[in-house]
Amino acid sequence: MTIFKSVKSVAVAQLAAAAFLILPQTGHAGDIEAGRTRAQTCIACHGPGGNSPTSSVPTLAAQPEQALATMLYQFREENRKNPVMSPFAANLSNAEMNDLAAYFESEKRLTPSHQTKPANLELGPVLAKKYNCTQCHGPELKGLQHIPNIRGQQHDYLLAQLQGFKAMKRADMDGNMTSASTGLKDEDILVLSDYIAGLSN
Ligand code: HEC
Ligand code: HEC
Repeated sequence: MTIFKSVKSVAVAQLAAAAFLILPQTGHAGDIEAGRTRAQTCIACHGPGGNSPTSSVPTLAAQPEQALATMLYQFREENRKNPVMSPFAANLSNAEMNDLAAYFESEKRLTPSHQTKPANLELGPVLAKKYNCTQCHGPELKGLQHIPNIRGQQHDYLLAQLQGFKAMKRADMDGNMTSASTGLKDEDILVLSDYIAGLSN
């Protein structure tokens, strides 16, 4: 059962990568202006420019284009499910997903309103290094290609995702995040969420 699930997840990651074809002229698979127009339905929840005003809803601004396209693909194919979000991805074509991804990547991520507790300002970076978060998400946790930008992401959203990965309830395209979070104590998850959510961009 577990093996079957992980094989399926790898296949999804490969399909998502195949759907995301970079055009050499612009460096973008999608069209930023077409994405901006289409994004009008998204900003009701994800905020103007994809800077979410709600702690439980993720910010999309400055998320790598490939990560965004892959997330939308996972929702559309029902590998990742959420009753609020899934309907907005259900009918998107690959081209529309790439346009939306190109647009949200182009937006600036605003300085978060979240204030990290002083103790976690010291402990957070230690844990992020110890558990290899910085190795995959990058030294500034801004992500790269299919790896998400988590720097200054909304606090409650981060907390729920880390708890979800640890409980093996959050979709995970290649199993890497589930492995990365198995060793985390509940307390570590609280510290990391508080630390990462307060990092300014
Ligand atoms: C009615 C509110 C709502 C609307 C409208 C909406 N979303 Fe979402 N979206 C959410 C919520 C809530 C989540 C978090 C889902 C979860 O916890 O898995 C989410 C998650 C996402 C994610 C995953 C982000 C991440 O960091 O993993 C992407 C990408 C996304 N939405 C893109 C879009 C796009 C593009 C549109 C417009 C076509 C859109 N959303 C419209 C509520 C919404
Ligand atoms: C081996 C590489 C790897 C390591 C190590 C890793 N991550 Fe990830 N992380 C990923 C990938 C890949 C994804 C995207 C998973 C998906 O959506 O299927 C991800 C997703 C996430 C998400 C969800 C982001 C979103 O927008 O939905 C969070 C939060 C996160 N990682 C935090 C962390 C933290 C904190 C650590 C350290 C404890 C960590 N990661 C370690 C590769 C890694």
